[in-house]
Amino acid sequence: MPDTLAAPPSLQVFRHQSSSSLTKQQEEIIRLKEEKNAIILCHNYQIDPIQQVADYVGDSLGLARKAAETDAEIIIFCGVHFMAETAKILNPGKTVLLPDLDAGCSLSDSCPAEQLAAYKQKNPDLYIVAYVNCSAAVKALSDVICTSGNAVKIVEQVPQDREILFVPDQNLGQWVIGQTGRKMQLWPGSCYAHVLFTKESIERCRLEYPHAPVVAHPECIDSVREMADEVCSTEKMVSFCQNNPADTFIILTETGMMHRLTRELPEKSFVAGPTGNCACNDCRFMKMNTLPKLLDCLQSGAPEITMDSDLITQSKAPIRRMLDWS
Ligand code: 13P
Ligand code: SF4
Repeated sequence: MPDTLAAPPSLQVFRHQSSSSLTKQQEEIIRLKEEKNAIILCHNYQIDPIQQVADYVGDSLGLARKAAETDAEIIIFCGVHFMAETAKILNPGKTVLLPDLDAGCSLSDSCPAEQLAAYKQKNPDLYIVAYVNCSAAVKALSDVICTSGNAVKIVEQVPQDREILFVPDQNLGQWVIGQTGRKMQLWPGSCYAHVLFTKESIERCRLEYPHAPVVAHPECIDSVREMADEVCSTEKMVSFCQNNPADTFIILTETGMMHRLTRELPEKSFVAGPTGNCACNDCRFMKMNTLPKLLDCLQSGAPEITMDSDLITQSKAPIRRMLDWS
C-alpha cells in the first residue's frame, strides 16, 4: 500500500495563442480542397490544426445544416462516422469522405439496430426520438432525429398522445425530461467520455476557480449537470461564454472544444473540466482524424462513406423531419 495518495493531476487551462502561420501540409490541404471543389466540415472536437483548415466548424446540428445546403462536389467530414453518414444521407449524389473510417462513437454503439428493432416490434406504438449519435440503421427505425442543440424543441413537438422512446443517450434524455416535463422511456446508452466527469472532480476544480461558471454538455451525468450554470450543445457553449461577463469558464466536454472557444473568444480563459483520473477529456474516436489522414483523403478520394439506397431513403425521413422542426 502506498503511504500517500497520488495528487490529482493539475488542471489544463486554455488561452488564446497568437496564430502561427499555416504549415506546408495545411497549405496543401487548402489548395487541394479548392482544386477539387471539396468542403471540409469539422466538428468542434477535432484537433486545432484541422479546425484551422476547415470551411465550417460547429456542432452536430450546424454540421447537418451545412451538409444539407452545400454545393461542393465532395464533402470531407472531420468528425465521427455517424456524422459523415448523416451528410451522405442528405447528399446521396455527393462523395462524402471521412479521414479515418474507424472513427466511431461509443454512444452510437450502445444502441444496436437489431436490439432497437426487437424492442419496437414488441412496442409498436412508441414514438422513437433518436439523438443523431446513432447509426443510419437506428435512424431508419426512428420517427424523428434530434441533436443536443434542438432536443428540447423536437421533443416538445411530438404529438402529446404518443409515448416516446428516446435513444440512445439516457443522460441527454433525462435532461430533456427535466426541461420539457415530458415523460419518456430512455434507452440505457451513454458516451464513455462525458460520463467520466464526476461531482467530486468538478468540486475540486471549483475550489480553484470559485468564480468561473460551469458549462456542461447534456451527455454528462445528472449529478454533474446539476452543478452546471449552463447545460447546452457545443455550439451554444460559444454564445453562452460570449454573453456571460465572466472571464474564466469551466467547460465540461471534449477538449477540442477549447480550441474553438479560445479562437472565437480570445479575451477569455477556459478550464478543461477534470475527470476522476486526468485533467483533460479527449474522445478517442474524434482524435483518430489527423492532418496526414486528411491530406491523404483529399489526394486519394478515400475512404468514402457508401450506403445502400433503401437505407438512405428510410433514414432520410426522420432527419428531414428534424430539420423542418428546428
Ligand atoms: P454536439 O452536437 O453538442 O456538438 O455534440 C456532439 C457530440 O458528439 C457530443 O459528444
Ligand atoms: Fe461519441 Fe462521446 Fe465521442 Fe461524442 S464524445 S463522438 S458521444 S464517444
